[in-house]
Amino acid sequence: MVLENDRPLTTGRGGELTAIITAGAIGAARRRSTCHSEHVITYSDDLTGTDPQQLHGFFQHWAGAPDPATHLRVLEGSSAVVLAQDEGNQQVVGFITAITDGVLCAYIPLLEVLPEYQNRGIGSELLRRMLRKVEHLYMVDLMCDPEMQPFYERVGMQPASGMMIRNWARQAGS
Ligand SMILES: CC(C)(COP(=O)(O)OP(=O)(O)OC[C@H]1O[C@@H](n2cnc3c(N)ncnc32)[C@H](O)[C@@H]1OP(=O)(O)O)[C@@H](O)C(=O)NCCC(=O)NCCS
Repeated sequence: MVLENDRPLTTGRGGELTAIITAGAIGAARRRSTCHSEHVITYSDDLTGTDPQQLHGFFQHWAGAPDPATHLRVLEGSSAVVLAQDEGNQQVVGFITAITDGVLCAYIPLLEVLPEYQNRGIGSELLRRMLRKVEHLYMVDLMCDPEMQPFYERVGMQPASGMMIRNWARQAGS
């Protein structure tokens, strides 16, 4: 995790929380250094003003990847979203979605951080923020590969088994 301890989270635009992360090795992250480029990351649950142009680079590991316009439709159709945005270039660099009945159940279908922003705590922060949004519900589920389970256990989730259907012809969402 590379949030700087000596720079507390600060309130940004529209009450969003902003964190400064430093590119480079984790050990170097606690020290500000001009040798490293800095990225100011803003977290938001508001899609207002979000444009498909800000959503490039996601779903690279998908054979049939949704395009940015379809990605925006996914975000808009979700019950809740949290975005991580690089204030420098205004690009969305990470996102998480949830679908919920608002009474008992929520499902977290998508969590992704752009490869060049991974391993800096952004994915964990997105997950923590989404879990706070659904903490009043009875059950919160997601599917993941076994090797990802330690990542989710760190925020208090428990391993489970599940079932699924994948309609691969519809993977791109269009
Ligand atoms: C999973 C993902 C969202 C994590 O985002 P991130 O910003 O790198 O997360 P953090 O920096 O908070 O935490 C990174 C941790 O996740 C672990 N992790 C990431 N991908 C992993 C994988 N495929 N298998 C096992 N662990 C993984 C890292 O090893 C690291 O662990 P460490 O802190 O013990 O070193 C990101 O790797 C990603 O977008 N992956 C591709 C999409 C994906 O797999 N989404 C999850 C679907 S269940």
